[in-house]
Amino acid sequence: MKRLAILTSGGDCSGMNAAIRAAARTAIANDVEMIGYRKGYAGLLKNDFIRLDSLAVSGVLQRGGTFLQSARCPEFRTEEGRRKALDNLLKEQVEGMIVIGGDGSLTGALALDKLGFPVIGIPGSIDNDIPYTDMSLGVDTALNNILYAVDCIKDTASSHDRAFIVEVMGRNSGYLASTAAIATGAEFAIIPETELDLTEMCHQLRRRYEEGRTNALIIMAEGAGHARDIAAGIKDAIGFETRVTVLGHYQRGGAPTVFDRLLGSRFGMKAVELLLSGTKGVMVGLAANALTTTLLEMVVNGGQKKLNADLLQMADILGI
Ligand code: F6P
Repeated sequence: MKRLAILTSGGDCSGMNAAIRAAARTAIANDVEMIGYRKGYAGLLKNDFIRLDSLAVSGVLQRGGTFLQSARCPEFRTEEGRRKALDNLLKEQVEGMIVIGGDGSLTGALALDKLGFPVIGIPGSIDNDIPYTDMSLGVDTALNNILYAVDCIKDTASSHDRAFIVEVMGRNSGYLASTAAIATGAEFAIIPETELDLTEMCHQLRRRYEEGRTNALIIMAEGAGHARDIAAGIKDAIGFETRVTVLGHYQRGGAPTVFDRLLGSRFGMKAVELLLSGTKGVMVGLAANALTTTLLEMVVNGGQKKLNADLLQMADILGI
């Protein structure tokens, strides 16, 4: 192989830059040129790319987001768009492609694979909802961001005898909310995977208030509804005055943690090694700290990753 390409697509996440850098430098070490399409599939359709020599990926490891930029691209979802993408790749003599992103991006990668083009997927999404990998890129950094914010909120909550409902991202997954609840010592996690018993939650919060605790924390996944609705529902029942904080896109940015820098570097390097060895149509993943490969077909049709039942039980027990 003489020329490979890489792009980042969908919602950005920390660690994407580490993966791009590692992929580029692994290619260079094998005398292969790497190009990077800008703004995901949109850049591929416009043939908008840059050459990723060693200098081009210097100084990006510690930066959040993706320096290639990202986008959601409706045109690429059409048959015509995908054919155009393939034409552009062939015209530029690209022989293999790496796609970093979440479920929509990996669905796009599978479409290219089905057109006969060699593709490797890298899971990148703070939601950690992609199956066949213990962790996706960006999850650890997002969790650390949430931790920092919630620790700050806990301080002010304690000073005022308040309850806080902190709404976190995750789309339809409660992974971020339940792990953040464990790591911040929150009383409750409200997640889409389990049904909320509002009366029971109010009862328990009231008990905590009467015990003399100075604050109560509820971490709520965005996929489980709106924090403001829950706040209105518990307002008069729990003793604590209640406030809401929606963390929003703050969660997605920031310098990647050590974990995400290492994971991005491992994923990026492995993706190039796979392409060079003739493997295609798979996503790299992590299981028990070892790198894995799974057919993109299985990943895309695998449905949303299930939450670990132990995690839910743990959040329940430790929140008492
Ligand atoms: O999938 C990642 C994610 O950050 C979700 O948690 C969130 O619901 C969504 O993207 C937000 O998307 P956008 O950046 O397009 O508003």
